[in-house]
Amino acid sequence: MTVVPGQKGTAGIEEVPDPGAQDGALLVRGMAVGICGTDREIAEGGYGTPPSGEARLVIGHESLGEVLEAPAGSGFAPGDLVVGIVRRPDPVPCPACAAGEWDMCRTDGFGERGIVRLHGYGSEHWRVEPDFAVPILPRLGELGVLLEPASVLAKAWDQVDQISRRAFFLRGRALVTGAGPIGLMACLLGAQRGYEMHVVDLARAGPKRDLVEDLGARYHSGDAADVDVDVDVVIECTGLGAVGRSAGRQLASGGIMCLTGIMNLGPTLDVDATTLNRNMVLHNQVLFGTVNAGRRHWEQAAGALAAADPGWLGALITRRVPLTSWTDALDRQPEDIKVVVDLTA
Ligand code: BGC
Repeated sequence: MTVVPGQKGTAGIEEVPDPGAQDGALLVRGMAVGICGTDREIAEGGYGTPPSGEARLVIGHESLGEVLEAPAGSGFAPGDLVVGIVRRPDPVPCPACAAGEWDMCRTDGFGERGIVRLHGYGSEHWRVEPDFAVPILPRLGELGVLLEPASVLAKAWDQVDQISRRAFFLRGRALVTGAGPIGLMACLLGAQRGYEMHVVDLARAGPKRDLVEDLGARYHSGDAADVDVDVDVVIECTGLGAVGRSAGRQLASGGIMCLTGIMNLGPTLDVDATTLNRNMVLHNQVLFGTVNAGRRHWEQAAGALAAADPGWLGALITRRVPLTSWTDALDRQPEDIKVVVDLTA
């Protein structure tokens, strides 16, 4: 699965050489790749960087595969299901990368497989370093492809947990904006923590509502401005400024708001910085942004998937596309939640 970053309409399929040993000691048979908004943005020419000296990028950062070759002592064996971590440290390295916290890289000198400077996992065979591979329970099977989006939310919630320990905090209610794969994962992880979960999304009925309600959470259909509950945590997953602003108004004193969605470059959002300041200062609120996930978040995410209802996780995968026509996965369809490319078909 390749694309020329920066050039719209170049996503396609091509033969590339087998991965070389420099890509990692584990040789993996690719099984599935999940498609997300970042992949669509790369295919549209708006994001992504090829490896140095190359024009094309093998895309795909939400991976799942089966180990074919693993050196003794690597902790992996042929037949294991495995997911590849996305980010690699800044080679220089920056102080955060040197400390092993490459998800907090301070320089943008990091690599991200399938996104920035490193080929991704959208191929029939790929390699990965054992330290950047996460084992998947055999019983999860195909559901392992959900580990990458889950890792991003595991990091978001891990930070909420850490920030919440700064002072008195009530683990009461949380509001998630958007019921796509990221919002649904945010809801799952919040429900697992015992929060009373609320999710707002424009969709009226259908699978998103059902999936939210199956978690015991309350679904609010329509405008975020109409949500009428006070919450201790907001996890913003739409990347829409107006939605985030409305959700932020529901934040209680001492509340924590996490931004995971990335706003498209376009007309600038008119933010009333004075009101924002007064609300945040006078109510001890925290607003933070988060991206990517460190090794511990991948492990937390693996625990969260293992604890979730496999039927619920399975319902997130609403469409499967064979490798030969993978670009169909880039076209959004109304019933889509998570679209997965089947690398074996
Ligand atoms: C990926 C992250 C990545 C981010 C920015 C997201 O879609 O899930 O791993 O850090 O894009 O490149």
